[in-house]
Amino acid sequence: MIIKTLAVDGFKNLKDVNLSFDKSLNVLCGENAQGKTNLIESMWICTGLKSFRGTKDKDFIGLEKDAFHIDLYFEDKQRSQNISFNMSKNNIKDKSVFLNGVKLNAPSKLFSSLNCVIFTPEDLELSKGSPENRRRFLDLSVCQIKRSYLGVVNKYDDIINQRNRLLKNIALGVSQKDELDVWDEQLAKLGSYISVLRYAYTKKLSKTAAELYRDITLGKEELSLKLFSTVFEKLEGRDDYSGEMYEEYLNRLKENADEDLRLGYTQAGVHRDDLVTYINGLPSREYGSQGQNRSVALVLKLAQAYILSDEIGDSPVMLLDDVLSELDLIRQNFVISKIKNMQVFITCCEKNKVSKLNMGKFFEVKNGFAHEIIRG
Ligand SMILES: Nc1ncnc2c1ncn2[C@@H]1O[C@H](COP(=O)(O)OP(=O)(O)OP(=O)(O)O)[C@@H](O)[C@H]1O
Ligand SMILES: [Mg+2]
Repeated sequence: MIIKTLAVDGFKNLKDVNLSFDKSLNVLCGENAQGKTNLIESMWICTGLKSFRGTKDKDFIGLEKDAFHIDLYFEDKQRSQNISFNMSKNNIKDKSVFLNGVKLNAPSKLFSSLNCVIFTPEDLELSKGSPENRRRFLDLSVCQIKRSYLGVVNKYDDIINQRNRLLKNIALGVSQKDELDVWDEQLAKLGSYISVLRYAYTKKLSKTAAELYRDITLGKEELSLKLFSTVFEKLEGRDDYSGEMYEEYLNRLKENADEDLRLGYTQAGVHRDDLVTYINGLPSREYGSQGQNRSVALVLKLAQAYILSDEIGDSPVMLLDDVLSELDLIRQNFVISKIKNMQVFITCCEKNKVSKLNMGKFFEVKNGFAHEIIRG
């Protein structure tokens, strides 16, 4: 998959941007706060997903602007496609989004047309950081290959919040304990399904990431992954999410109900899952060095791109925001060599900090404007 051209105006600080990209490597260079990440973000929202840095829709529009317009052409294996994404200040709810000239009723309907993998410095903390980040990583990965999954996760989050609120109200004597039943049944249904999908994805991830990790350590270290569940002791070979697994999940919620009431939150469930990474059998989060954890994070993200590529039968566009300059030369070269068959966007502040970038196209981003620099 290749993004051919991008025109953006009024998106955050971007003004009159009109770029035509290289099919392999594109470097966006500029000082801090000039608009490099904004450019990456304007492409990302054309995937139909929310901003990767949590920007609210209304904050996409430039402070002194009334609207933004994004016009993007991309090519997948079959054909050329066009996405047009517009939003105006006085009608934020009514975004006007078109795919190949056909109006869609929500940006999320763009989902699975343009496929990108975003890689930011926060992702380098994936292995060392909080379990929440790893759950988010897993969920985004699953939802990129199974569109309906996003709705399931959002619904689960909604219900867990409602159950937690109810737990507090029961403790205060304003609600009754039997009111938990209706939420528990829904949690058990959604949670079992999420467990099956996350586990299936973890298996794929484990295989691909282990191969990549063997490569980056020249065969000296072994990476393995395990999805840790607070509900199911064993997930291997299980897929009966509306039968046996549902019952087990429901029982776990009921067993924990009194303790949940005392604590005021739900202890067991997929909202407490963790993806644990092991190097040579030891949890990397506790035992791994900084460099080992970085390598783990790198291969997890690369594996995410490889799996997506496999599933959709086309390579996703790689968006590397400020990542390469954070890595030493060996890891930079490793990443570049592993994504050389994909279209890649790289942002950086100083181009000479990033090696091997003397191919493809080069763009300067300055004060919201961007243009190609022709190298002589
Ligand atoms: N809604 C908005 N309207 C106008 N400007 C905005 C808006 N939201 C963010 N900005 C500004 O956009 C500028 C560029 O942000 P961006 O994150 O793209 O910078 P960057 O080039 O990636 O910098 P860095 O190298 O530090 O990552 C920032 O100064 C930010 O304040
Ligand atoms: Mg940035």
